[in-house]
Amino acid sequence: MKDQPQHMNQQSSNITTEAATAAEHHDDFAPAVIPQLGNITTSVIRAFDREVSAIPGILKLTLGEPDFNTPDFITEAAVASLKHHRTHYSPNAGTPGLRKAIADYLQRRRGLVYAAEDIIVTEGASEAISSALTALLGPDAALVYATPAFGLYASMAKLTGATLVPIDTTDSGFVLTPEALESALRSTKAQGKRTVLAINSPNNPTGVTLSAEQLRALAHVVNRYDVTVLSDEVYAEISYDAHPAPSIAQFAPERTIVVDSTSKSYAMTGWRLGFLAGPHALVAEVAKVHQIHVSTAATFTMDAAQVAYEQGDASIDRMVQEYRRRRDYLVGELRALGYNMARPSGAFYVYVQVPDEFHGTGYDYARLLAQQAQVAGIPGEAFAPGDSRHVRFSYAASMETLHEAVARIRAFRASDAADQ
Ligand SMILES: Cc1ncc(COP(=O)(O)O)c(C=O)c1O
Repeated sequence: MKDQPQHMNQQSSNITTEAATAAEHHDDFAPAVIPQLGNITTSVIRAFDREVSAIPGILKLTLGEPDFNTPDFITEAAVASLKHHRTHYSPNAGTPGLRKAIADYLQRRRGLVYAAEDIIVTEGASEAISSALTALLGPDAALVYATPAFGLYASMAKLTGATLVPIDTTDSGFVLTPEALESALRSTKAQGKRTVLAINSPNNPTGVTLSAEQLRALAHVVNRYDVTVLSDEVYAEISYDAHPAPSIAQFAPERTIVVDSTSKSYAMTGWRLGFLAGPHALVAEVAKVHQIHVSTAATFTMDAAQVAYEQGDASIDRMVQEYRRRRDYLVGELRALGYNMARPSGAFYVYVQVPDEFHGTGYDYARLLAQQAQVAGIPGEAFAPGDSRHVRFSYAASMETLHEAVARIRAFRASDAADQ
């Protein structure tokens, strides 16, 4: 009892002993959860990040979020909202002011026409995707998606027990072709599966952006196969050729759910504020899931987002100008160092092919680069099933950081280590 704190009586000592015994055995405890969770593993991104974070002086080009701060006028709107005690629940689908601001924004900048009632404000694009896919998928359904892809679509499909149908686009310049799509849809149709196509343009991780013509061709196929489309457009504003990027909703509005968020466009990742828009009857069904999952987004963040959608065009344009400068620099330098990649025309990633002379996977190369050059990218394995021959670098980092990263990679390429 000597080392026991004074306030601890015998009873609490027994409880502590029991807790310690329980803790010793907690590894043996098999939680009684749905079997689908067994198919979902810790993200490769997290695991790799943990591994390389231990390397002294590591320079990370791993981040999937803007390095800019949220513009002040947006933050100030949130503060004003709080000061006006806008701290109560809002309607499930979001404040009427924000829904209208989003509808106006979609029409003004993106040429997409939606009534405010057909927009649900969500907790980031992540919740928009999970609510929509919860409503659409299940053991009797299939998710068709082009890889490499953002991991959430596949994770959600696994969670719902849906069949996953990834289409590898590596050999077609990371462009989903109508032929490949048709072949996948033919197979899910033959299996009698209700089918959802998830598309993401501009794409994470490749930066590839589909043209209006390419989207029109895909729309033509989905119309013939009666498929619902989940179009993840979080990078639509960060697009360097067509600006903003075109949407498949322009060509198949009656079957498409558009997902977007404030995260990338306005540098608001931590605010957790996004939306989905779509045909009335479909949005009404997704609204039920949204209501169950989150009830409603936080009121003061919605007030701030309203100001962003109403007054944020110039902020977007400024950030995109800077991303373009960085993209041009990084792509130019990496090409000069002998790396191949599809030309990124959107988002803030370059998806670099592992050099031919390197006989390992994307994971091996990313690890070697982290250890030898102290530069971290994300292995392609994070974005597609199986081994990869790619590494994703993010240029959501300052020019200074990019200069240093390039200098380190150059030194690495000149060393023997690069040939391993
Ligand atoms: C393609 C894609 N979709 C959705 C998200 C999630 O965005 P949000 O922060 O709005 O949940 C991300 C984040 O990295 C992404 O890359």
